[in-house]
Amino acid sequence: MTNKVYISDLKGHVDSEVTLCGWLYRARSSGKVQFLVVRDGTGLCQCIVEKGNVSDEMFEQLKHLGTESSLTVTGSVRAEPRSPGGHELAVTGVSIVSAAIDYPITPKAHGVDFLLRHRHLHLRSQRQWCIGKVRHTVIDAIRTFFNDNGFTLIDTPIFTTVAGEGEQTLFEVDYFGTPMHLAQTGQLYLEAAAMSFGKVYCFGPTFRAEKSKTRRHLTEFWMVEPEVAYIDLDGLLELAENFVSFVAQQVLTKNADELETLGTDIDLLKKITPPFYRLTYTEAVEILTSEKGADFLADELKGLQEQKGQLETEISELQGQLDAGGKKWKMEKAAKEIANAKADMGEVEVKIENNPKHAQLAAEFRWGKDLGGSDETIISNMHDKPVFITHYPKQAKAFYMRGDRSNDKVVENFDLIAPAGFGEIIGGSVREDDHDVLLKKIEDEGYKPESYDWYLDLRKYGSVPHGGFGLGVERTVAWFTGEKHIRQCIPFPRMMDRVYI
Ligand code: 4AD
Ligand code: MG
Repeated sequence: MTNKVYISDLKGHVDSEVTLCGWLYRARSSGKVQFLVVRDGTGLCQCIVEKGNVSDEMFEQLKHLGTESSLTVTGSVRAEPRSPGGHELAVTGVSIVSAAIDYPITPKAHGVDFLLRHRHLHLRSQRQWCIGKVRHTVIDAIRTFFNDNGFTLIDTPIFTTVAGEGEQTLFEVDYFGTPMHLAQTGQLYLEAAAMSFGKVYCFGPTFRAEKSKTRRHLTEFWMVEPEVAYIDLDGLLELAENFVSFVAQQVLTKNADELETLGTDIDLLKKITPPFYRLTYTEAVEILTSEKGADFLADELKGLQEQKGQLETEISELQGQLDAGGKKWKMEKAAKEIANAKADMGEVEVKIENNPKHAQLAAEFRWGKDLGGSDETIISNMHDKPVFITHYPKQAKAFYMRGDRSNDKVVENFDLIAPAGFGEIIGGSVREDDHDVLLKKIEDEGYKPESYDWYLDLRKYGSVPHGGFGLGVERTVAWFTGEKHIRQCIPFPRMMDRVYI
C-alpha cells in the first residue's frame, strides 16, 4: 500500500518510504542519475532516480518526460537543506499518470499577452503559486480580523438598483427587461445592516466599468467593507490601521517562504504597524505643490537614471556571456536574466519619462480636484509606512460622505495610501446622517431620489453617526508581494482591454 504524503508534510517522514503525487516541474539528467523536481501543490521536492533503482524502461522514459507531466514517485525521504523545501526523495518507483508533450510555458521569458492567454497553465508557475498563497492568507486574515472583533458578515447583493460610486463606472445588466447594475460596492446595503447589527462587513466581488488601463485597475475585483454604527473619523482610522497591520503580520508569519521566493521587501512589511501617518488633503496638496515635493521628484529622477546605468551595464555583461557561448542551461539562464533586466529597464524608462510630467501635474495641482494616481504615487513614495489622507473637498468625493460641520468645503473621509508607490488601498468615510442634507446631495448628483427612498429611510428612523471603508484585495496583495501589476494578484483577471479566459 502506498503511503501518499504531501511535500509540505515531508519533515515528519524522514527515512521512511512515501509516495508523492504531482507534476514534473523540471528535470535534469546526468547519465546514470536523474533529478526530477516534482511539485504537488504544497511545495517542490527534488526526487533522485538512480539507474537500477527503477526499471531500465522507466529510466529511459523519464529522460524524455515533458514538463508538467503528471506522475507519482515513491521513495525514501532524506533531509537535504540545500534542496528546495529541505528534503529529497531517493526514488524506488515512478508511475507516469499522464505524459505532457511540449508544455507551452518554457523557462525562456514570455510576454505578458502570451502568459495571460495561458493563464490556466501559468497559474502553476512558482511566482503565481506564491502570490496565490499570499492572497489566501490575506483573505483568511481579513475574515479572522472582523469575525474576532465582533463584526457580523452580511452578504450584500450583486444585482443592485442604486449607484454608490458614480454612474460612469456602472456595468448595466438587463434584468428581465429592467436595467440593473452589478455591485460597485456593498456599502449602501451595509449601512442598513449596521443599524440592525452594529458592526458588519461584506466581502465579495465588485464590478467597475473602469475605462483605465492602469496597473491598479481591474473591472472585477474583491473588496471587503466594514461598516460601524456610532463611529467617527478617528475611530475609523484606528480600525483601519489595526486591521491592515493585522493582515500584514499574518502574511509575514504564514508566508515567509513565499515572500522570500518572490523577493519581497520584508522590512517594508514589518513597518506596517500602528499608527500610520496622517495628513489632511490640504496638507497633501501643500506638499505636492511645494519645493519639498519638487525636490523629492528631482532626487527620484537622479536615482532612476543611476538605476538605468546599472541595468545597462548588467545587460551588456550578460550579453557578453551569451555571445561567448557555453552550456545550454547557462545560456538559457543568461537569456532569461537579460529579458528580466530589459523588462526592468522598460519600467525605469517609463518612470524617467513620467517623472517630469508628474512633477508638472503636482506643481499645477489646485485645491479641489481629487488626487490622481501620480499624486498618490508621489505621496506614497515619500513615506515608508502607509499614509491616511483625510478631509477631501466634497466635490471630489461620493455623495454619501458626511460634510465636515466645521468646514463645509470638505468631507469626513479618508484614503489609505500604501508606501513605495502602491497607491490607494482603502477608501472610506463617515456617512452623511442628516436626512435633508443627504437628499440634497442625491439630487445634486442627478440621481433619482425615489431610488434612494430606502437609503434615506435610514436617516429617518434612528439615524446615528456611522461609517466604514472598503479595502481592495488585489491592491493589498500587490503591495504585500511587491507585484507591480494587480492583474497578477487575482487568478483570472478581468481588465478593460483583456479578458482572455
Ligand atoms: O475608494 P472606493 O471606490 O470606495 C468604495 O467603494 C466605498 N464604497 C468603500 C466603503 O466606504 N465601504 O474603493 C475602495 C477600494 C480602493 O481603495 C481600492 O483598493 C479598491 O477598492 N478598488 C479597486 N481595486 C481594483 N480595481 C479597481 N477598479 C478598483 N476600484 C477600487
Ligand atoms: Mg477611492
